[in-house]
Amino acid sequence: MRTVGVDQIRLVQPSLATLVSSSFGGRDALLTVAWVMPVSYVPSKVAIAVSPERFSYGVIDSSGMYAVNIMEYEYVDAVYRAGTVSGRDVEDKFSYCGLTRKPGRTLPIAVVGEALGVLECRVEKKVSVGDHDLFIGVVVDAYVKDKYTTHWDLGSYRPILYISEGHFHTIDPGSVKKYEMPQTG
Ligand SMILES: Cc1cc2nc3c(=O)[nH]c(=O)nc-3n(C[C@H](O)[C@H](O)[C@H](O)COP(=O)(O)O)c2cc1C
Repeated sequence: MRTVGVDQIRLVQPSLATLVSSSFGGRDALLTVAWVMPVSYVPSKVAIAVSPERFSYGVIDSSGMYAVNIMEYEYVDAVYRAGTVSGRDVEDKFSYCGLTRKPGRTLPIAVVGEALGVLECRVEKKVSVGDHDLFIGVVVDAYVKDKYTTHWDLGSYRPILYISEGHFHTIDPGSVKKYEMPQTG
């Protein structure tokens, strides 16, 4: 085995590249977040790791709210754009990314109209962990368009997966295997 350097963190990728949105004081935030993970079933909580350098960081921190927008692979260009330009440098990042801004269903924040699924979250806790902070959010509303039953239908849903250094990909439906699972939650 070869020792890995500072890129070791990428051993746990690919991960889902999502769009996180928020709003505060008349400004909307939109950024790409691949460091997103579920952290509790009941109550339902989803955490995101966001660098304080991001414009969106201040918006999420001030509003105490964010939405995780799940995008399909056809929106990979928009996800790339949202992840490479700052809201500090463009007036309207939604239109810069070719996306539609929609009001949240429960929270007073912007969400992405083209999203296949949205998790609206209220920040419960912020944890400083290093060069990113972890926002732990309680899911207050979650909704999907289709392709989802109790999980994504991998026959028709194409997730946006991110490896690193600009490499995006999606799944090969032929690689999907279904196993019986014990009822452990
Ligand atoms: C695929 C991808 C994944 C990213 N994941 C994260 C992430 O998990 N956390 C983070 O803070 N930044 C992440 N970024 C970087 C931000 O999305 C990027 O710096 C963005 O331009 C910040 O926008 P803002 O300044 O408008 O908030 C990612 C970028 C890309 C391209």
